[in-house]
Amino acid sequence: MSKGKITIVFLIIFGLLVLAMPVSNFFLQRQTIEVTSGIPEFKPVSKIMQNKCVDCHTPGMVSEPFYGKLPGASQLIQADIDGAQQQIIFSKEHLKGEKQFSKLELVRIQTVVQNNEMPILPYKMLHWDAGLTNEDREAFLVWIQAQMKTATNAPSPVEVPNEQTPVK
Ligand code: HEC
Repeated sequence: MSKGKITIVFLIIFGLLVLAMPVSNFFLQRQTIEVTSGIPEFKPVSKIMQNKCVDCHTPGMVSEPFYGKLPGASQLIQADIDGAQQQIIFSKEHLKGEKQFSKLELVRIQTVVQNNEMPILPYKMLHWDAGLTNEDREAFLVWIQAQMKTATNAPSPVEVPNEQTPVK
């Protein structure tokens, strides 16, 4: 084979490998979590989150792509997961509807949904079905509006000792 042909064959193989990354992501197996409580408006939102957000925002729910173990890719993916979970966690209890998001969390979710900031662009480039549709956005906003009525001000990470409790 001439050098030119070898280059073309190489480019085709390389192109197919690159294409295999997003295409294979259409076939990722995902664990599904049933929504067992919460307001009815949350049900469709949990489904959207499970399809489009949990890879980064839910501990233990990443569906790893075939290229996820490759050096370089593995570090990039882990950095996104760490960054995402430092900001906000959609726990399995949240996804089941058992745990409520705080008002602050709802506002932050609303902001990224309205500004179309999530999922982040590199992820959408490799997950072609991960972008939020107008219907998804609508579902988020309807849910947030309804959920706000019962949401509390902030998650309380620490139990504040009750002063009335007698000291033993
Ligand atoms: C590929 C990983 C990834 C996916 C998937 C993803 N996020 Fe994120 N998310 C991040 C990272 C990284 C950050 C922190 C850095 C930033 O804000 O850009 C973040 C931050 C956030 C924040 C906090 C923003 C703030 O500053 O208050 C919210 C809310 C959020 N994401 C919601 C979502 C929602 C909703 C989805 C699904 C529709 C989603 N994310 C999908 C990676 C991801």
